[in-house]
Amino acid sequence: MATTEVKIAPENLQAASRPSERVPEPGVVVIFGASGDLTKRKLLPALFHLEQQGLLPKEFAIVGVARRDLKDTFAGDMKDGIIKYGGGEKGDSTIDEFIEKVDYQAMNFDDDSGYTDLKALLEKIDKEHGTKGNRLFYLAVAPEYFSDIIDHLGKHGMAHPEKGHARVIIEKPFGHDLESARELNDEVNKVFEEQQVFRIDHYLGKETVQNILVFRFANGIFEPIWNRNYIDHVQITAAENIGIEGRGPFYEKAGALRDVVQNHVMELLSFVAMEPPVSFEADSVRGEKVKVWRAIKPIPIENTVRGQYALGMVDGQQVQGYREEDRVDPNSTTETYAALKLEMENWRWAGVPFYLRAGKRLAKRVTEIMIQFKQPPLLLFDRSADGPCNEIQPNVLTIRIQPDEGISLRFGAKVPGPDTNVCPVVMDFQYASAFGVNSANGYERLLLDAMLGDQTLFAHRDGVEATWALYTPVLEAWVKAKPRDFPNYRSGTWGPKAADGLIGRDGRQWHRI
Ligand code: BG6
Repeated sequence: MATTEVKIAPENLQAASRPSERVPEPGVVVIFGASGDLTKRKLLPALFHLEQQGLLPKEFAIVGVARRDLKDTFAGDMKDGIIKYGGGEKGDSTIDEFIEKVDYQAMNFDDDSGYTDLKALLEKIDKEHGTKGNRLFYLAVAPEYFSDIIDHLGKHGMAHPEKGHARVIIEKPFGHDLESARELNDEVNKVFEEQQVFRIDHYLGKETVQNILVFRFANGIFEPIWNRNYIDHVQITAAENIGIEGRGPFYEKAGALRDVVQNHVMELLSFVAMEPPVSFEADSVRGEKVKVWRAIKPIPIENTVRGQYALGMVDGQQVQGYREEDRVDPNSTTETYAALKLEMENWRWAGVPFYLRAGKRLAKRVTEIMIQFKQPPLLLFDRSADGPCNEIQPNVLTIRIQPDEGISLRFGAKVPGPDTNVCPVVMDFQYASAFGVNSANGYERLLLDAMLGDQTLFAHRDGVEATWALYTPVLEAWVKAKPRDFPNYRSGTWGPKAADGLIGRDGRQWHRI
């Protein structure tokens, strides 16, 4: 297929590197669960990148909190993380300067004395670093510790400090069904006001996800056709080629639907489907998203397909099946793949199906949204089988979230020559070549926003409950009807055959990626 690239005007390239004026107030980021992978791989590299860009206040500090006694090694370990995962260079003195702002406190999350010590440490940091009593608590812990930590922060006066402000970031999974999500929301809101709560979904920090809103609402030409009159259907794919990466105990309880569909995929769907908000303020944007989720019809089980990977080949390597993974039940019925057909009951989308699929150990790592437009009412041109392209293809707009972030539009063009043959060609916008920069890891933007108190890119309790309300009945139905054919797809393929049937019975097919 021919490709036409879209280039950005050179004078506008500078905009991408212009310094931002969004610098938060002085403060301390306190990371609970700091001994886990997330801190070293994502959070510290993200904070360091913010520092490099001049986006952190001068009066700033980080405190890692975890059960193990890592006081002597923590800072060094974080430095390694910045070098290994954040592209930092060995011997770079700015890393050392940054690491001086890192402290550590070992404590059990249910132990009062630990919180007394933590409070004293934070007060000492305020004096030394001028952080003014402002705190951002980041709960990067297993969900069973959320309540304990939140309760104790409340009890020890750290949720509503006399001086400065307190905010809390809560990592997913936010509940495992509707009831548990409601309970957790109630517990959180007993201690923190909703304006202090930042439920993180790292997909919302991705540039390409935010660009969906810019694409739709900063351009005049797409919105008039962004509806049931012109769009045939939408597909959202969140495919990964990795397996569960040693996270057996977590994944056994989660599965693909809880792990990525209820949150990441639904966030993508809401950005594609929402009405224009009245402003880009947190409440307007989040309000429109909730309306989308609430407009989705209950999902009948026949509109769902689940799968589990068997052994196979990924990137030329033989990989084991899910049931053979470490700390996974050899008879596990946990799904590593889910495909769904969703239908919305609102004026914009009635009759336009949204097909979703997400899974591990698939053929490629690709997250993308594909919008297929309706064919023209009358096809004037010959579809002769002996032409170079034997079928006139519908227009397709593809929003590539990762990798190779960008947007492309497929349309038909006349093949040069005496006959009127039509072949698909693609107009292609790629972030990397257009702006000359790679988009940042989502955590940078989200940490910055939380420090600024901007909740636009964080989940509201209503949103979390709306998506759980939709998926809890599916999960319950799946528990009742045990899958008999697991494992039902080979690693390195595009998932179970039944997923082709789900979309195929509507006369459609999954977009070839
Ligand atoms: C996480 C899931 O939330 O998202 C993982 O727990 C998944 O299982 C990851 O691999 C995918 O994130 P990304 O940014 O690599 O698409």
